Amino acid sequence: VGQNLLTLKEVDSTNNFLKNLLSNSKPVPEGTVIMAEGQYAGRGQQNNKWHAEPGKNLTFSLLLQPHFLDIAYQFDLNRAISMGVYDALWPLLGDALKIKWPNDIYYGNKKLGGMLIENLLQGSQIKNSVIGIGLNINQENFPEDAVNATSVRQILHKDYPLNDILADICNHVEAWYLKLKAGKTNFVRDTYLSRLYWFNVEKRFKTNGQEFTGTITGVKDNGLLIVKHNNTETTYNLKEIEFLNK
Ligand code: BTN
Repeated sequence: VGQNLLTLKEVDSTNNFLKNLLSNSKPVPEGTVIMAEGQYAGRGQQNNKWHAEPGKNLTFSLLLQPHFLDIAYQFDLNRAISMGVYDALWPLLGDALKIKWPNDIYYGNKKLGGMLIENLLQGSQIKNSVIGIGLNINQENFPEDAVNATSVRQILHKDYPLNDILADICNHVEAWYLKLKAGKTNFVRDTYLSRLYWFNVEKRFKTNGQEFTGTITGVKDNGLLIVKHNNTETTYNLKEIEFLNK
């Protein structure tokens, strides 16, 4: 991952750029990384926009071709990528680093970054997986409405070279991807849970306008979150559940 690296000064979205490359006739090698200094139409989860100050943050997309993975298990890919990003950032940030279901990288209760994985299918297999990653690295200030955002710079009061962090992410993502490919699925799943934000602790959530106390007990292979409440486990998708930070 990252052997074939293209750095762009400015692009709408690196995910869009990579998807356009794929729709042209020339094959794109697995592991290709498209990085942009700035994006003017960066995309996040749930049709949100992704804003990042140009030149200060990591915004990139990488291509994987997990033909071995049935779509029923697509969340395994999400887990493996999250573990790679976690391993690359852990030497800097330590155990306060968490993976927030389904696609966020957290430090304490603040969001450091997120992922947007777009799987392009062929039948029930994943043909191409466009994995977009946005991480706040050297940005000092955030807009007032981004109350929840933080950066490595805000945490450590130091700037870090983007290319070094990118190289570490590529290496660790590759290592976790190869574990998945080798069938070490249980190891990937167990490690994911051990790093999951709010795993196995009683917390407040909201669903359908209703607040409740529950405990995250796991994540299904299709990506649904499992929360236990009054001794009953219920599964939720991203739109159905909100984490209440209080
Ligand atoms: C989220 O937290 O909602 C996901 C954010 C994903 C942002 C990255 S930045 C690189 C890639 N290109 C995009 O347009 N989005 C992803």
